[in-house]
Amino acid sequence: MSGEKPDRNLAIEIVRVTEAAAMAAARWQGRGDKEAGDQAAVDAMRTVLDTVEVAGTVVIGEGEKDEAPMLYNGESVGSGHAPEVDIAVDPIDGTRLLAEGRPGSLSVMAAAPAGAMFDPGPCVYMEKLVVGAEAADVVDLDASLQDNLDAVARAVGRDVRDLTVVMLDRDRHEEAKRQVRQAGARLQLITDGDVEASIVAAWADRPQVDMLYGIGGTPEGVITACAVKALDGVMLGRLWPRTDSERRAAVEAGYNLERVLTADDLVRADDCFISCTGITQGNLLRGVSFDRRGATTESLVMRSKSGTVRVIRARHQLHKLSRYSAVAY
Ligand code: FBP
Repeated sequence: MSGEKPDRNLAIEIVRVTEAAAMAAARWQGRGDKEAGDQAAVDAMRTVLDTVEVAGTVVIGEGEKDEAPMLYNGESVGSGHAPEVDIAVDPIDGTRLLAEGRPGSLSVMAAAPAGAMFDPGPCVYMEKLVVGAEAADVVDLDASLQDNLDAVARAVGRDVRDLTVVMLDRDRHEEAKRQVRQAGARLQLITDGDVEASIVAAWADRPQVDMLYGIGGTPEGVITACAVKALDGVMLGRLWPRTDSERRAAVEAGYNLERVLTADDLVRADDCFISCTGITQGNLLRGVSFDRRGATTESLVMRSKSGTVRVIRARHQLHKLSRYSAVAY
């Protein structure tokens, strides 16, 4: 026993950031306006983030400075006082889900010691395979989906036909879909939101999905890695350039496109923090609900070092907040 005293759990503070973003975004549920929903979430997230006592740099953000007025990559956030941390944000994962009033959108933010988070550079997409702790050590991104499903089934003591694989419904996944069907596993297709799906796949408390497989956003991959580390799950990834020019740019920038990346490669630190708050109702979290007295949110709040996972249901008294808050809920 090292006798270390409990120290600060940043996740407990950043939950306020994702709650604020989720509540602001939730007003745009089903209203068909992706940009307005996103803007509301970004504004709320940025405002509350500045109350957190960190010298943060956005590493995974809304894009380049010129295109993203707030939460752009490289932007300094937080109070500006130590500790220095890398910040990854996705104010809404599932912007289209929110705009179309569909389940599964959430607001997410992660933090890790400065320099720990992988910089995706020009690589927009990566191949991802995520499973829970029970199947740790048995998956292999170079093996077929059939072999991976057989290995997971053995590890969890079930038949392949009892397993469910979740995948983004995209044309690029036709071959992967065929392989899952041929293996005899169940397939769950989602239109968006592979952060939520990955957490459900990695978290033993949500047994409805056993594996996420597919090609999705690299920024979402880095965020997912923070969650997987806290949940003791497994994530394997590989950069997936969309075009020859993206491939060239990645190689010129020194990226190894063959390399299998683990959660530890994507976040090179033992102590990372993540909070996500449901916006629309989902498989992982309840969505924001509004009533006469205010709003209710549900968040998942995790720290990799301790492995503590908290589900926080919060009541927000909007009539009180509206008296002083800079965020318009
Ligand atoms: P946004 O809401 O940030 O647009 O992301 C939604 C999402 O479905 C991610 O969860 C996923 O990683 C990515 O988009 C997939 O990209 P694409 O829609 O281009 O296939």
